[in-house]
Amino acid sequence: PLPVQPPSGCPFDPPPLSNLLERGDPHDEFGALRAEEPISKISLPDGSWAWLATRYADIRAILGDTRFSSDTTLHGYPLSGMTGGASTENRGFIRRDPPEHTRLRRMVTREFMVKRVEALRPEIQRITDELCDAMERAEGRTADLVEALALPVPSLVISLLLGVPYDDHEIFQRLTGTLLSRTVTDAEREAARIELRDYLDQLVTAKEADPGDDILGRLIIEQRQTGEITHDEVAAFAALLLIAGHETTANMIGLSALTLMRDRATAEQLRRDPALIRGAVEELLRFHSIIRNGPRRVATVDVEIDGHLIRAGEGVVAAVPSGNRDESVFADADRLDIRRPNAQHHVAFGYGIHQCLGQALARVELQVVIATLLRRFPAMRPAVPVEEIPFRTDMAIHGCHALPVTW
Ligand code: HEM
Repeated sequence: PLPVQPPSGCPFDPPPLSNLLERGDPHDEFGALRAEEPISKISLPDGSWAWLATRYADIRAILGDTRFSSDTTLHGYPLSGMTGGASTENRGFIRRDPPEHTRLRRMVTREFMVKRVEALRPEIQRITDELCDAMERAEGRTADLVEALALPVPSLVISLLLGVPYDDHEIFQRLTGTLLSRTVTDAEREAARIELRDYLDQLVTAKEADPGDDILGRLIIEQRQTGEITHDEVAAFAALLLIAGHETTANMIGLSALTLMRDRATAEQLRRDPALIRGAVEELLRFHSIIRNGPRRVATVDVEIDGHLIRAGEGVVAAVPSGNRDESVFADADRLDIRRPNAQHHVAFGYGIHQCLGQALARVELQVVIATLLRRFPAMRPAVPVEEIPFRTDMAIHGCHALPVTW
């Protein structure tokens, strides 16, 4: 059965469409909470409760404090309503604490450094151009931008990095979609999880026999063959990188494209001055804050945050979409301003030791895709009234299920 809907005003409600369209901000309640009750209590879909932090400074204080744990197996971790988080078997390092987290993350940090990722820019541009070529050839100058571009770009890029055969990318889109959905049954999610685990298991076995020049191949040569990590840990790396980098980037592409199709003046500024793209991507990340109901932590000892005592074993939801609208940091925060001087201080990639490992990659993908779309499809617009666009109000990661466009 589906979880019981929590009371209104908590970050699990479907956002009102008018907010989404006009301000990108789904929750009016956040403003009042930041002003009056920045550390509040919120009920979760299973009837349990957690602390909800809505101010920028408190969110950074919590995410930057290792007395708050990411270990989903600890008693009190607020799992309810956190889709994709229920599985605790073979957790990737995103759900581990130091020293294990440090040890494992360090094995792949190098792969995601800015310099390394910048070197991929031409390849990302090539992938984007080929997908745009295919769109141009489509009958009737229409496409679903999610299917034609937003999902395949990150999927192709991460498949390339991991050394996953491209022919398998549809399997990933189906399985990761099921894993992250709030509307599938537990049984369906469990089946998808097992299918993905089995697939990755076979992939790692194949690479153990013949490691390629890719992240998994290097992990196997440097860490697996030296006995630092097990077969299952290599598979857990693959699962984490795949899932963490796929739907997140895809949904940012869709939402950014929609925003710029509706805000013609900003799109025109970007077309005239492509150097603005870096700042624009930071601002779009801040504005959309697609991680709707997290990140989450559980206190391992009693911790005082902003005058509130959070006791050991109590859960915390750091409301990133609210932190990114905090007026004490971002002036006129509900406005999209691609020249905002401090947009890059957003917490859309989290903060602290778990801050997004793939952020440099996500940035390059977004910069390339958005700039290319603006250049190649200047007349692109939604092909249906915006009210008919299916927003992912049912998903933990915000975005659109489909985005019909024409040009
Ligand atoms: C962690 C957001 C793209 C890989 C995170 C966290 C956030 C986030 C908020 C922190 C989670 C926490 O503190 O519990 C995003 C957004 C993206 C994006 C908004 C796209 C726009 C990517 C990409 C990859 C990636 C492209 C790589 C392939 C990871 C990994 C972690 C992570 C491995 C775990 C880091 C750790 O625990 O040390 N991401 N991400 N992400 N992200 Fe991303």
